[in-house]
Amino acid sequence: MLESGSNTLTIVVVGASGDLARRKIFPALFALYCQGLLPVELTIMGFARSAMTDESFRESITEHLTCRYTPEERSCAEKMDAFLACCHYVSGQYGSTDAFLDLFMRMQEHEPHSRTNRLFYLAIPPSVFMDVARALGDAGFVYCDDSSPWSRVVVEKPFGHDRSSSDQLVEELSHVFAERQIFRIDHYLGKEVIQNLMVLRFANRIFEPLWSREHIQSVQISWAEPIGIEGRGGYFDQYGIVRDVMQNHLLQMVSLVAMEPPASTSSAAIRQEKVRLLETVAAVGIEDLVLGQYTAAPAGAPPAPGYTEDESVPDDSLASTYAAVLLHINNPRWEGVPFLLRAGKGLDRKSTEIRILFRETEANVFSGVSGHAEPNELIIRVQPNEAIMFRITSKVPGLEMDLETRDLDLEYKTAFSELIPDAYEDLILDVIQGERSLFISSGELAAAWDVFTPVLDTVDSNHIRPLPYPFGSTGPSAAMDLAIRADTVWR
Ligand code: BG6
Repeated sequence: MLESGSNTLTIVVVGASGDLARRKIFPALFALYCQGLLPVELTIMGFARSAMTDESFRESITEHLTCRYTPEERSCAEKMDAFLACCHYVSGQYGSTDAFLDLFMRMQEHEPHSRTNRLFYLAIPPSVFMDVARALGDAGFVYCDDSSPWSRVVVEKPFGHDRSSSDQLVEELSHVFAERQIFRIDHYLGKEVIQNLMVLRFANRIFEPLWSREHIQSVQISWAEPIGIEGRGGYFDQYGIVRDVMQNHLLQMVSLVAMEPPASTSSAAIRQEKVRLLETVAAVGIEDLVLGQYTAAPAGAPPAPGYTEDESVPDDSLASTYAAVLLHINNPRWEGVPFLLRAGKGLDRKSTEIRILFRETEANVFSGVSGHAEPNELIIRVQPNEAIMFRITSKVPGLEMDLETRDLDLEYKTAFSELIPDAYEDLILDVIQGERSLFISSGELAAAWDVFTPVLDTVDSNHIRPLPYPFGSTGPSAAMDLAIRADTVWR
């Protein structure tokens, strides 16, 4: 066997038979493979409880692999065969050191070097998370280092369900992996438009001077999914929408919109500014939170069961599938500017958008001119149809002087010919390259939980019932009151 080589990599996907692995992780690995971005000497080990042979495992992951980067049929088929040949499977119980020793033996049969870089991807439910981390440590898989060769671990949310359980996970995981070896994924940070937020703010001169309470009236972040829980209640019902997407995906967007400019683009500088910002976000008060739970679709609409009618959800569940929150940021830049967040499943659309609403234009020479001019607005559409739009007042062409509001429109599909990578492609490549800026530090995690833990405790201990809203609607109307209180309107 050869000695260690920097161009060798073993990826161990724990939870390899699950949805996340099949739909996201393996397709992302294949996309990187097609682009020549994975080391030549590559071993991929899948590990899960289901009994499968290498062959049936390969079949199960093939379904979601796509030829986006190698559209010619022949070269795609060749790449796929070569990629699948690197993939092997071992089944076993998650907490069993013996099962992981077995995995270790199989892995060594395929690794060309005695000391190969190792990436562990934990795509597993939170209930078995620590058992697996311990078993990996006990089986001797993990190098205690992040240099050469390195061991790194990727962990998926949820990272706990409140501040103290999150602290406990951080502490327990630190017995197996050092903080610099841990990559906590929030896949929204890998999305193309979200990665563009810092560029938009700090590489364009026009925004920074306007980016404060003086010029901005409100910031709104909306996240909507048109689908319901569809049998995935096992996980969701214990967490609810605030823990599922708000404490992480939406709060990450808040950090990137509101943080101060970092000293550099280093991961340490960026993460430091995000933590600083999160520490200035006031803990959400119960008066600033509206919770909802979808009911069956109304008569006449395409049929859809209500949340509690789903067979994976208890009939008396109090889990929220919708939340609207009014956040307050206590720092000189944002004092008094409402940050309105809403997120919901079973809504009328699929959409993730950030809207920066500027204050009304002061009286100017056009104040008396006919036409309706709305305040400027910067709209950052994360998905679908990625775009950045700036709403301006414009003269309507013609002989009269009429004004109208129109969008300067940067729609990615027409503006860029490049393919937009899936978030997981970017994130996995960053793990391999040891680049941390798109991952959540333990400090960020703690600060993010501090924003929501007190209100979640109040909701849970008082068994607060979420407001019903019909599937396919815009959510409970009470959410409107938050905007009225904040003296703005939902956009
Ligand atoms: C996950 C949530 O983090 O993000 C899911 O757990 C949600 O509930 C998903 O559906 C949405 O991701 P995307 O990339 O499809 O917007």
